[in-house]
Amino acid sequence: MKITHPDAVPYREVDWTGEYPPEYTRGQVPAHVAIIMDGNGRWANKQGLTRTQGHAAGEEVLLDVVAGALQAGVKQLSVYAFSTENWKRDPAEVRFLMGFNRKVLHRRRDQLNAWGVRIRWAGRRPKLWRSVIDELERAQEMTKHNTRLTLTMCINYGGKLEIVDAVREIAEEVRAGRLKPSGVTERVLDARMYQPDMPPVDLYIRSSGEQRISNFLTWQGAYAEMVFLDTLWPDFSRRELWHAIDIYSGRVRRFGGAIDAPGTQAAS
Ligand code: IPE
Ligand code: IPE
Ligand code: MG
Repeated sequence: MKITHPDAVPYREVDWTGEYPPEYTRGQVPAHVAIIMDGNGRWANKQGLTRTQGHAAGEEVLLDVVAGALQAGVKQLSVYAFSTENWKRDPAEVRFLMGFNRKVLHRRRDQLNAWGVRIRWAGRRPKLWRSVIDELERAQEMTKHNTRLTLTMCINYGGKLEIVDAVREIAEEVRAGRLKPSGVTERVLDARMYQPDMPPVDLYIRSSGEQRISNFLTWQGAYAEMVFLDTLWPDFSRRELWHAIDIYSGRVRRFGGAIDAPGTQAAS
């Protein structure tokens, strides 16, 4: 695994590895996949490397997984890159992660743009480095007309704080008389999330064997299926993504309905 990168990376086709996803039955590919990219530290530890080298090893993996998502026909991919809880880490690691996210966006945006990927950011402004926000905004602007896949980079993101931020906005609107308390509906909250047009999560994937959501897309993931894989993120690839989609395609989603009720559907 290569763990350092030049500033400019050569252009690659989406199928540069020569691998192709299994033939999913139409309608069984999740529209929105949310990935908790976990296990960089443990991977590094096992290799006798530093935690930051573990994070660096995840860059290529992310590109590979985005390519695999494009091949499979996933329309929305949200990736958890830095949580509102990750500020608790050692300051040197936090500094590395901030600089690293900025550099990854800078290095990879042309490639992602060429693939037709629309890059978006979900997260909070307070505390997040200005240079990271600038890079995110540049990438959003550059790719805003792309429609093949939306890649949401969740940086300084926390699901509970996203809801708190939405509720604060709503409280202001109620105070100003623009909204009645009885007018506060799910749709009103949807519209105040960081990316209001983000669809519900269909499938969560978490690497590294941990079986928790860690405050990721709390609102949008209310009815998502979950697939937990033991592979550590730096060892992950498009094959693991396809494997998770395979597992998902065998699930029956009920959304609260009875097992044979109308409206109950196989994963779609
Ligand atoms: C995930 O890997 C990356 C981030 C949280 C930024 P970790 O750094 O959490 O790796 P582990 O969980 O310690 O192995
Ligand atoms: C979740 O991973 C956050 C990211 C992957 C960015 P963590 O490693 O921070 O989560 P916990 O602390 O194990 O729940
Ligand atoms: Mg972790």
